[in-house]
Amino acid sequence: MRALEINISGYRNLKKISVNPGSGVNFIYGRNAQGKTNLIESIWMFTGARSFRGAKDSEVVGFNEDFAKLEGKFFIENRKQNISVFFGNGKRKVFLNDISQIYPTKIIGKFRVVLFSPLQLSLVSGGPEKRRKFIDAAICQLKPTYISHISSYNKILRQRNALLKNFCLDSTRDFLEVLDEKLSHTGAILIRERLNYLELLKKESLRFYSEISDNSEIMDINYIPSFSKNISYESDFKLIKNEIMLKLEKSKNSDIKSGFTSFGPHKDELDMFIDGKKVRLFGSQGQQRSAALCLKLAEASVLKESLNDSPVILLDDVMSELDEFRRNYLVNKITNNQVFITDCNSDMYKKFKNGKLFEVDNGFIREVHRI
Ligand SMILES: Nc1ncnc2c1ncn2[C@@H]1O[C@H](COP(=O)(O)OP(=O)(O)OP(=O)(O)O)[C@@H](O)[C@H]1O
Ligand SMILES: [Mg+2]
Repeated sequence: MRALEINISGYRNLKKISVNPGSGVNFIYGRNAQGKTNLIESIWMFTGARSFRGAKDSEVVGFNEDFAKLEGKFFIENRKQNISVFFGNGKRKVFLNDISQIYPTKIIGKFRVVLFSPLQLSLVSGGPEKRRKFIDAAICQLKPTYISHISSYNKILRQRNALLKNFCLDSTRDFLEVLDEKLSHTGAILIRERLNYLELLKKESLRFYSEISDNSEIMDINYIPSFSKNISYESDFKLIKNEIMLKLEKSKNSDIKSGFTSFGPHKDELDMFIDGKKVRLFGSQGQQRSAALCLKLAEASVLKESLNDSPVILLDDVMSELDEFRRNYLVNKITNNQVFITDCNSDMYKKFKNGKLFEVDNGFIREVHRI
């Protein structure tokens, strides 16, 4: 999978531009506030998802423009395909191969992208909910049916919490038992899927981390269920379900007191270690950044295996806090995917052996040819 040509007009500060990216690394440099992240965001928009910066559709239209237009030619599913995205009047309109789509989200799953931006650092340094969200979103990319399991789990959880808050009658106790059975069943489905996915992710991220650190550091990842210490990758569905049931039963009285379900997949944690120390607590800035980056690269690798096609990798502002070796690794060693990397530092391109170079200056983009 790769972008062949991207035409942009009226998008944020970007001028009317046309970019022909290479199939390998595309290194985009420029001073602060010139439009590098805007370019990355515009490429992201072809996925059909919302802006990764949390921007509303009306906010990506240039300040003095009425609408923004993104037109791209891609190589997807072994053939050339076009995607166009228009933003105007606070709305988004999407065309796939010149056919208008009823909903903009209709194109989700066509152009696959894995993104790393400074916002992703919270994957390592933030609270456990960031990591749970990351795994769940990554599984959804592989198995769209997983979304319905998450929604069912959340629905049952909301019902159980509402019941706990108003707990008084004996009849409520019977209903609680019904909900506990449902919650542990759906919860076990989530845990089993997460464990399966993590096994694949772990293998790839450990390999990336070892390579990016020049084999000097070892990364590790562990899934920590909130409800039992007896769960591992080998645990079968039945065991997981039983463990959740047992914990729900044991914590029933304290849950009634707090009005909240205190154990289950919504409380599980994903611990990351470097050389045996928790990265979140003891990792340096560069180690935290490298760990988050390796998770994203691993996500792309797992996705590639399942799609039999490589997703495009977008790396925005990833270089700061990384040493020479790690920077060099990023621009020269990721060879299986089309990659877009931004950086403020133009010296980097001297070490850049393959791929294309682009300079972003005041919303203009020009390809820089090496002599
Ligand atoms: N809707 C918009 N219309 C016009 N300009 C906008 C819009 N939204 C943002 N900008 C401007 O785009 C400029 C470039 O932003 P961008 O985030 O792409 O910079 P950058 O090159 O990534 O810089 P940095 O190196 O600091 O990350 C900013 O100065 C911002 O004010
Ligand atoms: Mg930026």
